[in-house]
Amino acid sequence: MVVPIVGEHETEILHAQTHIWNHIFSFINSMSLKSAIQLNIPDILHKHGKPMTLDELVNAISINKSKTTHLRRLMRILIHSGFFLKSPINPDQGPEGGEGYVLAPPARLLLKDEPLSVTPFLLAMLDPILVKPWHHVSEWFESDEPTPFEVAHGRTFWDYAGHEPRLNHFFNDAMASDAKLVMSVVMKYSKDVFEGLNTIVDVGGGTGTVAKTIAKNFPNLKCTVFDLPHVVEGLEPSDNLTYVGGDFFVSIPPADALLLKWILHDWSDEESVKILKKCKEAIPSKEKGGKVIIIDMMVDNKIGDDESIETQIFFDMLMMVLVTGRERTEKGWSKIFFEAGFSDYKVTPILGLRSLIEVYP
Ligand SMILES: C[S@@+](CC[C@H](N)C(=O)[O-])C[C@H]1O[C@@H](n2cnc3c(N)ncnc32)[C@H](O)[C@@H]1O
Repeated sequence: MVVPIVGEHETEILHAQTHIWNHIFSFINSMSLKSAIQLNIPDILHKHGKPMTLDELVNAISINKSKTTHLRRLMRILIHSGFFLKSPINPDQGPEGGEGYVLAPPARLLLKDEPLSVTPFLLAMLDPILVKPWHHVSEWFESDEPTPFEVAHGRTFWDYAGHEPRLNHFFNDAMASDAKLVMSVVMKYSKDVFEGLNTIVDVGGGTGTVAKTIAKNFPNLKCTVFDLPHVVEGLEPSDNLTYVGGDFFVSIPPADALLLKWILHDWSDEESVKILKKCKEAIPSKEKGGKVIIIDMMVDNKIGDDESIETQIFFDMLMMVLVTGRERTEKGWSKIFFEAGFSDYKVTPILGLRSLIEVYP
């Protein structure tokens, strides 16, 4: 091995170059993952049930055979980023028995039939409609447009979703997939937040995944999904679940409690205070059990690990680029609660990067 001898100055410059290259190409991680999902690789490896050789994988995907060595390259980056692993095919024979690809633990959430699959969220966030605004961020800083999304598409995210059925569908599917994961945790560890309520409205409840789970677990609780008319149009009500179209800046149907999952991080402080004031008008007093249940991120620098901190910062940037929102610290949240006239709140941090916050009038 040739050991290059360069001075301190050059070493520093070369490290800087590597750091910059690494950041220039960070998107290759997400795009490679997207390609693997589009090629159905996680599902194929899962169905195979044992380590799969490259040739077996090529046959199963039925890609053009001339691309075999390129598939090896795609698999290599996804092993590096922790989605796949190489495992011995015949452990008894040691290295002679050869190796095959298997899923690494995070890839379980990429399987299509996995009830808690994150795949719809991934395909939505990496769709060209949502990626395009990132090319307009600097232009947005120089303009007076509210968001880079509007610079790129000429209208707000919500307006675009109302006019472009493909965006409406893939976004609602992405939200529904997240709602399943969140509700699986909430129902296990915080079911009591819904105890004693007669009525609840899921404000901005999308196509009703959260409300369906609540309605099923509490058959005597009347649940309403309240969202923009194009989102709830044509959705079928059931015994204790109804859908109402409207605008939460205008009015919210009255209920004992309101649920706002992934709503307020979409909006600026000023807009959030307006929504919260409408919430306050829709619920009874604290003594009569009125409350708002928020499921959203509470940015906490004490989380510690780099991946969690970076992911929270990514989400804050996402809210800046697609909509007018932001991720908030506890201080940021309490400021908007008190400004909207609420008196108290309780945080239950059961959702990884997100928390369940009960806010009392
Ligand atoms: C980020 S999504 C969250 C969906 C759902 N709560 C969830 O977490 O799965 C925000 C939701 O707010 C709805 N929304 C946006 N503006 C609204 C408005 N002015 N009135 C009512 N709903 C609105 C959107 O249609 C969308 O379903």
